[in-house]
Amino acid sequence: MNSERVTTAYFRQAKKEGRPLTMLTAYDYPMAKLVDAAGIDGILVGDSLGNVVLGYSSTIPVTMDDMVHHIKAVTRGVSRAMVVGDMPFLSYHLSVEESLRNAGRIIQEGGAQAVKLEGGQEVAQTVKALVAAGIPVMGHLGLTPQSVHQMGGYKVQGKDEAAARKLLADAKALEEAGVFAIVLECVPTALAKMVTEMLEVPTIGIGAGPYCSGQILVTHDLLGMYGGAGPKFVKRYANIHEDIMKALVAYREEVQNGTFPGPEHSFHMPEEVLARLC
Ligand code: KIV
Repeated sequence: MNSERVTTAYFRQAKKEGRPLTMLTAYDYPMAKLVDAAGIDGILVGDSLGNVVLGYSSTIPVTMDDMVHHIKAVTRGVSRAMVVGDMPFLSYHLSVEESLRNAGRIIQEGGAQAVKLEGGQEVAQTVKALVAAGIPVMGHLGLTPQSVHQMGGYKVQGKDEAAARKLLADAKALEEAGVFAIVLECVPTALAKMVTEMLEVPTIGIGAGPYCSGQILVTHDLLGMYGGAGPKFVKRYANIHEDIMKALVAYREEVQNGTFPGPEHSFHMPEEVLARLC
């Protein structure tokens, strides 16, 4: 694997050559280091931070300060992957000027190489302005969690003709506005394939089937951090919830029954020094 920094040109070239792109989320330094070392092409510091790390029930309470704080931790741990910072709820809707200021913080303070924002034709002008300022933008269509109240829940999108046509038009509008890639979340496989074939820029799927140009998952989901049944589109590659619980309970039991710390975890002093103290 080449250790050169992944760029937007790398994303474009991968799609051209039919090489699947890999992306995962990270929100802190240790996970970012692991994801980067695993050779993943892109790391999204998603506003899923709200659900996964901060304990909120949606992404809506996540602030710009939350995002910048976590993006800084991630970028300190990454040397190859492209780091994409999510723009949180209402950080790119009030005015183009405010959107530029917020995207600028993600790049300048956070050290990310790109930003991601949700929406189609309604955010195209904003995307144009960010791209014109030299900020690479990743789009996000389909299930857009910041609009959960408008969508009436976390549901598959684009299933009827009108919704599918709107998603196709939104994807075209984002490409024309200058995005370098588009996340497609929870859309039917056939529609994601159509979008991918229609666009020059790569699509990154999550719950969008195998025909996207790449895939992304929330890292904590694929590692099985929270136990229980996750969303249908997640494949569990590990069960760290169980491993962590086993370790924590073993520690508690060993402290309570006196087997930890043992002599191998303790410091010793010369017997004669000890004798002089007594
Ligand atoms: O915030 C996030 O983690 C995301 C991914 C699910 C694509 O937007």
